Amino acid sequence: MERLQKVIARAGIASRRKAEELIKEGHVKVNGKVVTELGTKVTASDKVEVDEIPIEKENPVYFLMYKPRGVISSVKDDKGRKVVTDFFPLLKERIYPVGRLDYDTSGLLLLTNDGEFANLLMHPRNQIDKVYVVKTEGIPAKEDLRKLEKGIKLEDGKTAPAKVNLLSADKRKQTAIIEITIHEGRNRQVRRMFEAIGFPVLKLKRERYSFLTLAGLRTGEIRELTHHEVKQLRAAANESLHKNS
Ligand code: URA
Repeated sequence: MERLQKVIARAGIASRRKAEELIKEGHVKVNGKVVTELGTKVTASDKVEVDEIPIEKENPVYFLMYKPRGVISSVKDDKGRKVVTDFFPLLKERIYPVGRLDYDTSGLLLLTNDGEFANLLMHPRNQIDKVYVVKTEGIPAKEDLRKLEKGIKLEDGKTAPAKVNLLSADKRKQTAIIEITIHEGRNRQVRRMFEAIGFPVLKLKRERYSFLTLAGLRTGEIRELTHHEVKQLRAAANESLHKNS
């Protein structure tokens, strides 16, 4: 569901502010009825008309990106830093990231212009697995990792149980490589979890999102999702939502 003024603005007919005026002044119809309420929400299947002319909807597009470190998961940045949409210079659709990876985190990021799809994947009750590979300062013991597996108290509440695997340890450098699977998506969650057990994160990469991996992509590269992958992701998200509601 999206706000009507946003849908009109996205179709390129008017700015958000101008779209609000058009609605208030009775120029806009949803499914044949004039709507003057600004809070009205519509879905992709609603027919929106401005002055009797149906708005053109953008084609839904879905991308998987290998986000490099040092890039913001956003469509613009006030400080002029590189943002993920800079990697799509020729795309006319207005895509945005599904969730976010920190500036210093690399790895798998999905981008789309399909608001319903993005909301479905980001729904808080959704338990889609995300697999991260972490390089830590110091080598956590089994008991330390066990704390992450059980769930650990952070300032915004206890984390859900995680799967954790020590992949390798460098005794000389005192660093470790650990794989962690979580399904929540709180702000800087993996970094805060490792911080909480006393092993700060030196490097963080998201390797998997549900069944999707970075296979075949190098850092900074993108590919379109196939129809089948989009369908599978929707199915996985819907199944998880039903299980948890
Ligand atoms: N957890 C983090 O701490 N950072 C990310 O970018 C993703 C998950």
